[in-house]
Amino acid sequence: SPGCGAGGGCPVAPAGGFHLFATTVTLEVSVGKNNLVMALNGSEVQLPCIFTTCIGFKDLDFTWYYNSTEIYRGHIKNKVSEPTMLYANPRVRLTGTTTGRENNISISMFVDFDDAGKYTCHVKNPKEMNAEHNATIILKVVQEMDNTLTHIIVGTVGGLVGLLILILVIKKIVLLILKKSQEKKKECLVSSSGIDNTENGLAGSKAEQKAPPKA
Ligand SMILES: *[C@@H]1O[C@H](CO)[C@@H](O)[C@H](O)[C@H]1NC(C)=O
Ligand SMILES: *[C@@H]1O[C@H](CO)[C@@H](O)[C@H](O)[C@H]1NC(C)=O
Ligand SMILES: *[C@@H]1O[C@H](CO)[C@@H](O)[C@H](O)[C@H]1NC(C)=O
Ligand SMILES: *[C@@H]1O[C@H](CO)[C@@H](O)[C@H](O)[C@H]1NC(C)=O
Repeated sequence: SPGCGAGGGCPVAPAGGFHLFATTVTLEVSVGKNNLVMALNGSEVQLPCIFTTCIGFKDLDFTWYYNSTEIYRGHIKNKVSEPTMLYANPRVRLTGTTTGRENNISISMFVDFDDAGKYTCHVKNPKEMNAEHNATIILKVVQEMDNTLTHIIVGTVGGLVGLLILILVIKKIVLLILKKSQEKKKECLVSSSGIDNTENGLAGSKAEQKAPPKA
């Protein structure tokens, strides 16, 4: 029926006779928070993918695409069985497992520069009126991991050390200024105490003056 696509709601007609709209499609495919994967040329890279569904699954089909070419196709009978492989590019192997807590259909392969591109993990669940969902990973293959990442790390660490030094220098300067101003205050206190002394002296002399002169 129309509107019964992935992520959409399907009309449900219960035995009672009245119509009720409910979101029955709960199928979701996820490649994790970060859909950009960086891999070293010549290294084995894991392309993560899991799917979730609230009402369970039966005879579920999943497919991995590179750009738009199929590179792996599998079938899962139910939650207590592992996927059966229907087609696989010889370089691709399934590393996920679906009998555990997650429905994990991750794949793994050794990559070179020509493998960069879009990897789409697609799932179709007959138990949810053939609901489909997919998620895509962008794979970048690099010569060395250094470049940006190392620069960011070095930059950040360097930045932090720099910031720390700056803070220490500022702290020293502030302390120096405080010390100087305190010294100034001390100087002021010294000079004012000097004035006090003079006043005392004056007062003393006044007192002396007040005192009846003795012949
Ligand atoms: C990339 O890796 C492949 C396989 O390890 C190697 O044959 C090739 O020379 C590498 N390319 C470069 C440019 O390093
Ligand atoms: C999926 O399986 C792979 C391979 O065993 C594992 O490395 C990864 O952590 C799993 N992902 C999740 C979300 O469980
Ligand atoms: C796949 O797509 C990427 C860009 O998204 C492109 O660079 C690459 O050449 C494509 N690979 C093939 C085999 O079409
Ligand atoms: C992935 O899903 C989008 C919309 O949800 C759809 O347009 C696209 O064709 C799907 N891709 C595959 C490979 O099934």
